[in-house]
Amino acid sequence: MNRRLGVLISGRGSNLQALIDPIAEGRLNASIAIVISNRDDAAGLARARAAGIEAICVSHRAFAMRDDFDRALVRELKARDVGLVCLAGFMRLVGAPLIESFPNRILNIHPSLLPSFPGLDAQKQAIEHGVKVSGVTVHLVTAELDGGPIVVQRAVPVMPGDTADSLAARILEEEHRAYPEAVQMILDGGWRVDGRRFLAAARSPTSAST
Ligand code: GRF
Repeated sequence: MNRRLGVLISGRGSNLQALIDPIAEGRLNASIAIVISNRDDAAGLARARAAGIEAICVSHRAFAMRDDFDRALVRELKARDVGLVCLAGFMRLVGAPLIESFPNRILNIHPSLLPSFPGLDAQKQAIEHGVKVSGVTVHLVTAELDGGPIVVQRAVPVMPGDTADSLAARILEEEHRAYPEAVQMILDGGWRVDGRRFLAAARSPTSAST
């Protein structure tokens, strides 16, 4: 599979960094062809440039129609021959032009155990609901918001006295492990999607016994 990533961000970019670092250290067999932010003040743009990665802003505000913004993203991604799109704190809804151009080739990371707490402020939703366990989900992107096939999930405990911020910080540590792992799984292939289920590659008898 084409191992060239396009990473879409809107802000801080710590999950972007969690992809940059293992690639640089040879622990993740991929390259980042382009980082695109819809906001020009996203700190993640500087992280990318510091790593020598091309980073551009495509502002959603420049487009009257959402589909036109999506088409502009597709143009930039295709121009760099991107094979897998990674949403990393990208705060725009992904529309049909992007999804249809990269079918089952868009990943998103979300700070809850989906299908619980989709949408904004997932950590605050978890605190307010009173769950004792939350976590992180990396999933393939479909037209349903935070609803695509689940690739990797990790549970994170909610501690007494947690605030949305303290829970978010604990989940974020797990996000940074889960995202490169999910990217590796997708790039290594052998998986398939059955309905809403992501079926990982079967492990060979040799690897299962080690
Ligand atoms: C993360 O919590 C991610 O799960 C969510 O948005 C946040 C982005 O953080 N989708 P960062 O920009 O990667 O630091």
